[in-house]
Amino acid sequence: MANESNNFAELIAHCKEYGYIFQSSEIYDGLAAVYDYGQNGAQLKKNIRDYWWKSMTQLHDNIVGIDAAIFMHPTTWKASGHVDNFSDPMIDNKDSNKRYRVDHLIEAHAEALALEGKKEEEFALLKNMDALIAASDYAGLKQLIVDNNIKCAISKTCNWTDVREFNLMFSTQIGSVAEESDTIYLRPETAQGIFVNFLNVQKTGRMKIPFGIAQTGKAFRNEIVARQFIFRMREFEQMEMQFFVRPGTQMEWYNFWKEERKKWHESLGIPPEKLRYHDHIKLAHYADAALDIEFEFPFGWKELEGIHSRTDFDLTQHQTYSKKKIQYFDNELKEDGKPYGNYIPYVVETSVGLDRLFLTVMSLAYANEKWTKEDGTEDSRVVLRIPAKIAPTKLAILPLLKKDGLPEIAKQLMDDCKGSFMCFYEEKDAIGKRYRRMDAIGTPFCVTIDHQTKEDNTVTIRYRDTMVQERIALADVKHLILGKIN
Ligand code: GAP
Repeated sequence: MANESNNFAELIAHCKEYGYIFQSSEIYDGLAAVYDYGQNGAQLKKNIRDYWWKSMTQLHDNIVGIDAAIFMHPTTWKASGHVDNFSDPMIDNKDSNKRYRVDHLIEAHAEALALEGKKEEEFALLKNMDALIAASDYAGLKQLIVDNNIKCAISKTCNWTDVREFNLMFSTQIGSVAEESDTIYLRPETAQGIFVNFLNVQKTGRMKIPFGIAQTGKAFRNEIVARQFIFRMREFEQMEMQFFVRPGTQMEWYNFWKEERKKWHESLGIPPEKLRYHDHIKLAHYADAALDIEFEFPFGWKELEGIHSRTDFDLTQHQTYSKKKIQYFDNELKEDGKPYGNYIPYVVETSVGLDRLFLTVMSLAYANEKWTKEDGTEDSRVVLRIPAKIAPTKLAILPLLKKDGLPEIAKQLMDDCKGSFMCFYEEKDAIGKRYRRMDAIGTPFCVTIDHQTKEDNTVTIRYRDTMVQERIALADVKHLILGKIN
């Protein structure tokens, strides 16, 4: 298709116009970095979540899924290290009072250098930043900002405070009256709900190592620099899997999951050249190896999923803080014939943001197409090329006219299909207009019922991606769509 453009601002507007994503509390002027999913967005999000859940749990016979509560005992977050370590280095501009995450501030400056063609300066700046972050050298980071004359976007001055750490967890009170209340946190990751249930699941599911526990659910972080639409949100959803392995085998499984997860993203239609690995330089307090799977978003290469070798850190911490033994008895034999015995398993984690994956799918799907028709006139459309298996609506059923018995046939088809997949019925407007609307929503198949249907029981099926139309038997519609979406 000639002359395609893919503009991020257009995509955001499109998400709103077609019921995918709305700003939270929009009538009150919105809440920064919090978003609501509309009728099409909620369905797409569910389809992506279901696709992940099925591939993790149904297709891996050694992975099971759970659904732990968002609220957890406050000691959980002491044990996990989040109370003491889950913070980012921040800096405030004294003139605008605007707070920045230090790495974001420096990265934005590096991007500007790259745009000016100053590639070497960009590279040197990022290299210096990585080294200073790895050494937790906050005075050095401030000096780097000052030396590079990095200014606040609002005040345009270089009048900075010292670099300080800010914890990202939201806290609230539990209990009905103040005296009974206690501070609890909104979970900043779903993973801890898996760790504290390790023995429950292992024992009740008679799970043998290696095995995994998967979970999807909301997580909350008080992100200071919340930007780029649903890329960085304060309330978001994670899809995480903790894979429990024998100590010493963690790198083998880390490499396994690194490959496996990239392949999974490709199975969702993400082109391999739009994905890459980025090894972490500064490791989180719980990891002995970590990388990001990055996607080339419209605003550059950014983290989509994290793969972390979390050692036995979390289970050991929960054992210490709860004073309850969290161990696994391994009765399989080593090469020397001795049993492995009791140990705290090591963990390899895969953690992907559902909202980020949604943004990935949408930024690949959105296309503003223009072309010249055979008669020389221009035509155009906006289309969401969402893979059929996750598209919110699979089939639009469109009677050509609102009379002559055509709606009755269309409604019968709707009744036949709607138990198997999402269908949409529409009889208003000219057929061309209805097709365009379905393109914009991302519906992969449209079926039109016309007068010929009454004569020979055939319908026109139109394919969103090619706009090709063909005649098929009415009786074959359901089967054909099921074949395309499974
Ligand atoms: N349990 C490990 C963990 O939470 P993380 O790298 O902090 O690791 C994992 O987060 C994934 O969660 C990220 O790769 C990203 O996709 C998503 N994520 C993290 N913070 C996010 C935010 N503020 N908004 C949207 N998604 C976020």
